[in-house]
Amino acid sequence: MLIVPSVTCEIGVIGGTGLYKASGLTNITEHTIDTPFGPTSSKIVIGQLHGQNVAFIARHDVGHRLTPTEVPFRANIWALKLLGVKYLISFGAVGSLTLQLQPTHFVIVDQFIDRTKNRDSTFFGNGVVGHVSFGDPVCGKLSKLLKEAVDKVPKEGVQCHMGGTYVCMEGPAFSTRAESKMYQQIGGTVIGMTCLQEAKLAREAEIAFGCVAMVTDYDCWYEAHGNVTVEEVYKVLTGNAEYAQLVLSEAVKALSNNKFVSEAHSALSVGLMTPLNNIS
Ligand code: ADE
Repeated sequence: MLIVPSVTCEIGVIGGTGLYKASGLTNITEHTIDTPFGPTSSKIVIGQLHGQNVAFIARHDVGHRLTPTEVPFRANIWALKLLGVKYLISFGAVGSLTLQLQPTHFVIVDQFIDRTKNRDSTFFGNGVVGHVSFGDPVCGKLSKLLKEAVDKVPKEGVQCHMGGTYVCMEGPAFSTRAESKMYQQIGGTVIGMTCLQEAKLAREAEIAFGCVAMVTDYDCWYEAHGNVTVEEVYKVLTGNAEYAQLVLSEAVKALSNNKFVSEAHSALSVGLMTPLNNIS
């Protein structure tokens, strides 16, 4: 049976590796929301921040138990939509494909290259067809707000870069060096394993989406740095996890003062192929 909490949350947050909770939330409740695509990655934590109801999902579950391929992306976005989410902030760990983006830096991603093979990335099918525009896969207004949020909480060693192309690979193994170098050549600036599906599904769900990528390593193209390891990723993320919470707090504060209208909020008005009277 579908049970949806009566509370509405306009702001949703998906936390990635190293970000398994939103520590600034108060009056927390935890919810299990059933969806046509099964359960969400983790229980949905709903709490308040700067007077806003915020819904938080730990992408890999608390305890990091889901590989990128196993993350139930459709269930997560469906559940957030049911809760009324209009603005979705996704945090993700990434490797850097350029010298300028150093471990500990943040990147507000503005493009994606899809290298996944084994994911459900659409709500369409089974009699309902849509093709949403995805030339600009993130919401420009939300991205600007996120960049300003990072810049409001300066920290030594942390720089925030506006714009970057996120290569989304299947994983779970990291890339080979040949792949890593190819990703550089095709224009990738960071590499991760998850955020692209969230961007696509959020667009189909008419949710404004912004992606905060936290650089943890140089992948394996930079031979002087050796190959990326989980230990390296966690070390950087542990150092930045508290900082990411401050960034989130600033972003929610800014959203509380500015509930803008995003182009994403009307994505289906120009994206639905099947006439409404043909949808049963
Ligand atoms: N997440 C963090 N670092 C990564 C890398 N080098 N490749 C893919 N995903 C990552």
